[in-house]
Amino acid sequence: MKFAKAMSRLGTETAFEVLAKARALEAQGREIVHLEIGEPDFDTPSNIVEEAGTALHRGYTHYSPSAGIPELREAIAEYTSERRGVEVRPEQVVVTPGAKPIMFFAILALVEEGDEVLYPNPGFPIYESMINFVGARPVPLVLEEERDFRFDVSQLEDKVSPLTKMIIVNSPQNPTGGVLTREDLEAIAQVAEEHDLVVLTDEVYERILYEGEHISILSLPGMQKRTILLNGYSKTYAMTGWRLGFGVMPEEIAVHITRLMTNSNSCTATFTQWAGIEALRGPQDVVDKMVEEFKRRRDVIVPGLNAIKGIRCVEPKGAFYVFPNIEGTGMNEREFADYLMEEAGVAVLAGTSFGEHGRGFIRMSYANSVENIEKALASIEAALNEL
Ligand SMILES: Cc1ncc(COP(=O)(O)O)c(C=O)c1O
Repeated sequence: MKFAKAMSRLGTETAFEVLAKARALEAQGREIVHLEIGEPDFDTPSNIVEEAGTALHRGYTHYSPSAGIPELREAIAEYTSERRGVEVRPEQVVVTPGAKPIMFFAILALVEEGDEVLYPNPGFPIYESMINFVGARPVPLVLEEERDFRFDVSQLEDKVSPLTKMIIVNSPQNPTGGVLTREDLEAIAQVAEEHDLVVLTDEVYERILYEGEHISILSLPGMQKRTILLNGYSKTYAMTGWRLGFGVMPEEIAVHITRLMTNSNSCTATFTQWAGIEALRGPQDVVDKMVEEFKRRRDVIVPGLNAIKGIRCVEPKGAFYVFPNIEGTGMNEREFADYLMEEAGVAVLAGTSFGEHGRGFIRMSYANSVENIEKALASIEAALNEL
């Protein structure tokens, strides 16, 4: 079979491959602690589940408009206006099956062959994958360990060329847990204004933050007209399997993204959208409790890793990942990830799964119990002592 050339440029997410490998070992009777997958280990709050059931029984089992049911678009506009301090209209909202399609559609709609896109590296692998897929050039903004995984904004101007079309930002960040400061975001906004760039801001971890308030580039003066906010339910409400997310953008972009929805999915599952209204308008204390628990786990895993010889770990300010430097073990990140799986029974991802600047690091998700995290830390230490 001869495939389209673009397919050879499409990347992937290795988390699913590592999960499959871990499951194969489990099938042979091995015990594995899963620190590879990026999803909350909590159940979706019951009020949201009940609302989906009610919607199903009420017959919300048909197609909805491609951009989403008006009631949900309204609720998202209200939620975003409140949290970002800007006025968002429902017409600016497009509901999608998960937040990921917003990434896909925004790049398809705006980036052409030969364009350049600035993106975080290490970063969520789908950014680079999609930039390559459309034939554009990915220009990495390197996240630096010594800057708590922020990039050097003073270099931003040098990375922009007449071909630059878009800047992708992600804060709190996957895979590092890094958070950009207001000054960082202001510098990005200034460059975007000066060079007339579109900003795609991925804020799926906005609520999983351990200190301070979430700052969005959408809130900065003049940024609404050039910003696409990517957001969703997967992380905040532990709803990864529901596939519910959304984008907030200027209306002229929303029209195109909606057309891409019509051409691909038709619409997002209708009863899921009703549950999405309940998530935003219902009680929020479950989110706070989940974040508190993530913080407790972070406070176990970070000192635990730093106490192991050869490992150095920055304390993340958000999301539920740590990105420790493992160069001191004498192994590279792939060897180390394989070694941990085989010898310690701990599944993690090599930093290079998130781009070439993840060399020398691994990513561990601490969306797992304190008991399992402690077990993993002890097994890693024991496995390294055997070297
Ligand atoms: C940074 C980032 N953006 C987007 C997504 C995709 O989220 P969703 O499950 O809503 O498609 C993820 C999921 O891991 C992520 O880490």
